[in-house]
Amino acid sequence: MTQLPVIFKCSHHRKGNSDLAADLFLKGIRKAGGDAETVILGDMDFEHCIGCLKCRTAAENRCIFADKDGAQELYNKIISAPFTFFASPIYFYHLPSRLKTFIDRGQWAFEAATGDSPLMNGLGQRPAYACLLAGRPKGEKLFEGAELSLKFFLRFFKAELVPAMTFRGIDEPLDLAGDTEKCALISGYGEKAWQRNINNG
Ligand SMILES: Cc1cc2nc3c(=O)[nH]c(=O)nc-3n(C[C@H](O)[C@H](O)[C@H](O)COP(=O)(O)O)c2cc1C
Repeated sequence: MTQLPVIFKCSHHRKGNSDLAADLFLKGIRKAGGDAETVILGDMDFEHCIGCLKCRTAAENRCIFADKDGAQELYNKIISAPFTFFASPIYFYHLPSRLKTFIDRGQWAFEAATGDSPLMNGLGQRPAYACLLAGRPKGEKLFEGAELSLKFFLRFFKAELVPAMTFRGIDEPLDLAGDTEKCALISGYGEKAWQRNINNG
C-alpha cells in the first residue's frame, strides 16, 4: 500500500488554532482526492536527547531511547511519507517543547545522513510543509527560530521544508476559525500539496 502523507498536530492544546490548521490542510488534501494520517504529537512525551552520541556509532545509528517511547515510530513515518505537514503554535519565539524534544532526538538521523547510512542516503527528496501560528500581531523574527529548526531537522530525512505559512495575531483558540480568508489559504495549501504529490508521483 502506498504510504499516506503525515500531518503533525504540534500544539499542547487540543482544538485550538494549530489543530484547526491541520484539519484544514487535510480537508484540502481530501478535496484534491487524497488522504493523510494525522498524528497528535503535541500529546506525546519523549525521552530527551542526552547528547551521549551513541547514535554516531550504533548499528543503523539507533538511539538508546528508540524502544522507550514513540519517537522512532514517528521518524519512520516521516521516512515513508510522500510529504509531511507540521501545524504548530509559536511558544517563546520557538516550537513547543514536545516538538523540540522530538527534533533533538532526531540527532540519530543527522548522524545517519552525514555518515554512510544506506537507508537515509537512499531516500528520495520529498517536500515538507508547515503552518506556524503566533499570538503577537508584530515581531520581526517571530518565526525564524522555529522555521530554521524544522528545516534542518527535516533535511536529514531528505524532506525539504517549503517556506512555512506564518500567521500573526492568532491568539485565542478560536481566532483562526473566525478568519475565513486564512482558513481558505490553509485548505488550498493542502490541496496544492496533494496535486504536487500526484504530479511528481
Ligand atoms: C507557552 C506559550 C508561549 C507563547 N509564546 C508566544 C510567543 O513567543 N510569541 C507569540 O506571538 N505568541 C506566543 N504564544 C501564543 C500562541 O502562539 C498562540 O496563542 C497560538 O495561537 C496558540 O496556538 P494553539 O491554539 O494551536 O495552541 C504563546 C503561547 C503559549 C501557551
